[in-house]
Amino acid sequence: MSIAKTQRAKKRQLGQFLTPDGIARQLVDSLVFTRNDRILEPSLGDGAFVIPVIEKFLELYDGTLRERLDMVLTRNVFGVELDEDLFRACLSKIETQWGYLPKKHNFIRDDFFRCRFFAESNGKMPNSVGNYAPLLFTHVIGNPPFGGTLDPSIQDELDAEYGFRNGEKIKKETYSFFIVKSLDLLAQGGRLLFICSDTFLTINTMRGLRKLLMTQGEVDVTDLDRFSEETDHPMVVLRLTKNGFSNNITVDGNPIQREKIELTGNFSWRITEDLVKYFSGPPLGQYMIASSGMTVGKNEYFVREIVHGKIIEPYDFEFFDDPITLAREIERARLGKLSAKRIAAIRRQEAAGATRRNVRVMKRKAPVEVRIPASEYCFYNKGRNDIVYAPPSHAIYWKDDGDAVLTFKKNGRWYLHGVGGQPFFKREGLTWQLIAQSLHARYLPPGYILDSGAPCAFLRDGIPKDELHFILGWALTPLCTRLLKEVINHTKNIQSKDFERLPYPFWVSENHKREVIAGVKQMIESAMRGKQFTRHDPELSWLAEKFVFVEHASVRRKPKHVQTTLPLWDRAEGDRSIYRPTFLSQNTFSRQKMDQSPTGP
Ligand SMILES: C[S@@+](CC[C@H](N)C(=O)[O-])C[C@H]1O[C@@H](n2cnc3c(N)ncnc32)[C@H](O)[C@@H]1O
Repeated sequence: MSIAKTQRAKKRQLGQFLTPDGIARQLVDSLVFTRNDRILEPSLGDGAFVIPVIEKFLELYDGTLRERLDMVLTRNVFGVELDEDLFRACLSKIETQWGYLPKKHNFIRDDFFRCRFFAESNGKMPNSVGNYAPLLFTHVIGNPPFGGTLDPSIQDELDAEYGFRNGEKIKKETYSFFIVKSLDLLAQGGRLLFICSDTFLTINTMRGLRKLLMTQGEVDVTDLDRFSEETDHPMVVLRLTKNGFSNNITVDGNPIQREKIELTGNFSWRITEDLVKYFSGPPLGQYMIASSGMTVGKNEYFVREIVHGKIIEPYDFEFFDDPITLAREIERARLGKLSAKRIAAIRRQEAAGATRRNVRVMKRKAPVEVRIPASEYCFYNKGRNDIVYAPPSHAIYWKDDGDAVLTFKKNGRWYLHGVGGQPFFKREGLTWQLIAQSLHARYLPPGYILDSGAPCAFLRDGIPKDELHFILGWALTPLCTRLLKEVINHTKNIQSKDFERLPYPFWVSENHKREVIAGVKQMIESAMRGKQFTRHDPELSWLAEKFVFVEHASVRRKPKHVQTTLPLWDRAEGDRSIYRPTFLSQNTFSRQKMDQSPTGP
């Protein structure tokens, strides 16, 4: 590997996004220290934080510069850095700045997770079992590594030590474990000040960390407008004062109470006063169950693009009995490890000549063309950014209920042999693109096999079928995307469980609901006839209006016989004129051109 490549790999592995000096200095300036304070920077980098920290402490002492620096670096400032080069850079920065580096200091070149801090430097004696009292800090400050890799040789131990707090899982991420360990090292009343990725504010897998922070003290989170040239990832400043269980946090200057955070299924810290009302009813998960789809392992073998109603099949599939061998089983095991018991069992199987049914994928002499639909294929639901409905774009070889694909999946050289979403294969529902900035929701007809790039949702047992159309209508609104991307999960992924956590639009009146259901059915029909909807179509604006929040008390339920307003659509592609909704009896659609009135849909 070239030096540049090695540097890049190290940077990624150690999450090395150094804080610009100006930002670190500004944050340190917001703190007030006394001579009795003890500061820890657990991932020093080249010293962006410790330099201004040392400067501040120097002002608190009398004597020569050397004497003061000796005091500060033995009594007040502590630091750890894993990377040898950055560690050296940090020490030489101190030396350059003050022309002197005390021989005795508290900077350690090591993995923060391997460091134990003891009070021996304070003259404390070990206790009866030979342990020193743990050293606690009044401040832990810095910018912990983000997206780095935890040392694999101690990953399991770290998971055991930091992976659970108050019965909640803490996500195995460098910065979340850094936060947990730092909280443990913080004295009562102490303050944590970290720059970190904003990812932990909403995603469900960081719920445990958010809960932990709120059990430890008062939290304040502020968006950092601009971090550094090195990354455009959004960063925040996390401040915590360790003074016990708290019912409030402050995000960007706005106080939020725990009870409001708890309304969101993911304990979101991005809930705001104006959004609370949407979360005061049931979540979509009470109506629909969502699921991710499968990963085939090697799409090329089984998944074909449909072009002009046909696919090209280059392969043939043959089943055979594959001998079981220990070498092969180790290849398939998690981290290449098997228990002694399992190894013994496999050895016995190998000696007895045991086999496992497997599938062989063979290239045909000449590819064959297959017109779709065909009995040996099913439509395959790949992620795409179409909305409302899109014709099938792919088919998967699914002879005998997917025997070849499922057998391939079971025998592959990966340790997860399960098939995601299998119980939902072929069910009618709705679906969206997994990685997207908006909820690109569309109707999923029955009969599809599900791909992991397009999670799906299906009505729960006993829920009326019309709810599917109502919820699809809701999923197509900008408000729904806003709640999803601001409150539920602001990262690029839209997971199945994120969908279940969205609010069910309980505030929509029965009349509006009926109109939405009829309208969405018609939109699907016209999409099936070839219309490609975009977010700019009037039908989408019409839907958005139907889901505008109405305080429950003021929702007027119209008597059943009153005719409802239905949108006019189904107009010819490319016709950009605006149509006024007309009063029609339900399920009857007609068109009536409107003279560019701003009240149109
Ligand atoms: C995001 S950088 C921040 C550095 C410095 N705190 C700053 O603000 O400029 C994270 C630092 O953590 C270091 N690091 C990564 N894993 C570490 C570990 N397990 N223990 C100690 N330092 C680590 C990296 O080498 C890198 O210098």
